[in-house]
Amino acid sequence: MSDGRSDALVFFGATGDLAYKKIFPALQAMAKRGHLDVPVIGVAKAGWRVDELRARARDSVKQHGGLDAAAFDTLCGMLRYVDGDYKDPATFQAIRQQLGPAQRPAHYLAIPPTLFGLVVEQLALSGCTHGARVIVEKPFGSDLTSAQALNRTLLGSFDEKTIFRIDHYLGKRPVHHMLFFRFANAFLEPFWSRNHVESVQITMAEDFGIQGRGAFYDKTGTVRDVVQNHLLQVLSNLAMEPPIRTDSETIRDEKVKVLKAIPSLAAEHVVRGQFRGYRLERGVAPDSGTETFVALRLEIDSWRWQGVPFYIRAGKCLPVTCTEVVVRLRRPPTMFHGFDLEPNYCRLRVSPDITIAIGANVIAPGQETRSESAEMLGTQLPRADEMDAYERVLGDAMQGDATLFAREDYVEEAWRIVDPVLKDSTPVYEYEPGTWGPNEVDSKVSPPGGWQNPTVKSP
Ligand code: BG6
Repeated sequence: MSDGRSDALVFFGATGDLAYKKIFPALQAMAKRGHLDVPVIGVAKAGWRVDELRARARDSVKQHGGLDAAAFDTLCGMLRYVDGDYKDPATFQAIRQQLGPAQRPAHYLAIPPTLFGLVVEQLALSGCTHGARVIVEKPFGSDLTSAQALNRTLLGSFDEKTIFRIDHYLGKRPVHHMLFFRFANAFLEPFWSRNHVESVQITMAEDFGIQGRGAFYDKTGTVRDVVQNHLLQVLSNLAMEPPIRTDSETIRDEKVKVLKAIPSLAAEHVVRGQFRGYRLERGVAPDSGTETFVALRLEIDSWRWQGVPFYIRAGKCLPVTCTEVVVRLRRPPTMFHGFDLEPNYCRLRVSPDITIAIGANVIAPGQETRSESAEMLGTQLPRADEMDAYERVLGDAMQGDATLFAREDYVEEAWRIVDPVLKDSTPVYEYEPGTWGPNEVDSKVSPPGGWQNPTVKSP
């Protein structure tokens, strides 16, 4: 943990979509827990005054999680607003003024990455970077080259120790829980390696489309939107070595080692898909080649994992909304001839619930010579008072705890892995909404024994 709590939060993009959907609800939740006692300065160019920002904040929390009158009042008491152009030095003078005696402000750039350079430069010129932290939103670049350029821009005014790159997946309790489950238990470790694991599959399925985000999504696609960041983080949690200490750098070192061991993706191990109807969405090019689905296979060339294929599949308009990992073990040798034994597996679900399940062979009830796969299962439902990912990451950034943020070397390794897929235009196959992606997946990128499709009970 680095020294000192941030004593002010400045957030750029205060009138934008992200502020509306995520930031105000997170700030209200922080206020409710007594975690918000510093000035919160919203910045945007909308011709607004602070009253209008308060009204927007009220609307935002009502729409996203509900208004808590006392906590919202606390938030409003902290809220300030600076209206102005990011190109205009006067905007930054006004921020400096609003910061008053603050020594360690956190600047949160909830704005398009094309504006990062400009804002960071203006912050530096106006004396707002001294003692400050900067929090940046994903997507962090759009490929390896642009991410490197972005890193250079940020590092021009901030130290790596003071840069917090958000991947909200890391703020999800179940994602963190994967690490806890692996390293707080003894029984897993003996089989968690190439000696026993046959393959690993990670599925992030969403049963909805692009929800009006056509203009963003069409430039982005599934690989950039969720694989390069969220799913490689999930994979790192599954594959990393036990960290020797729990400080942020030791944990992040172990994650970077996982990525370093992954060769860049090969085109023949990737199948991209696009749901039928995508090209009719607003903001999407009528001849778009952007993927809304991807299935891919990669390897981790480390002592622990060499030879074990890892499969990742993610997409929009799939049959369910669920993120789940299946670690399949090698088939047991058997003296029970005539039984059709299935490989054992460990299933870890990240959402919508936290599930940990071990799949094992048992004799089918009422049978003498038939087995079936049964699961030993533990499930936790998310609790209403649980910290949302944004509340957690914002709070951690303001505390200076970088554990749940992507470090420069991590981000660049992640882009290196997916970069060839972004450049090689592999075909995009159409799939029907509500299916598990294009048919080509089964013939081209399928784990031994096939994909295990998650099922979700309706609430
Ligand atoms: C975002 C992606 O980062 O993560 C979205 O841009 C995706 O496309 C979302 O739907 C999934 O995260 P969550 O927390 O809503 O499951």
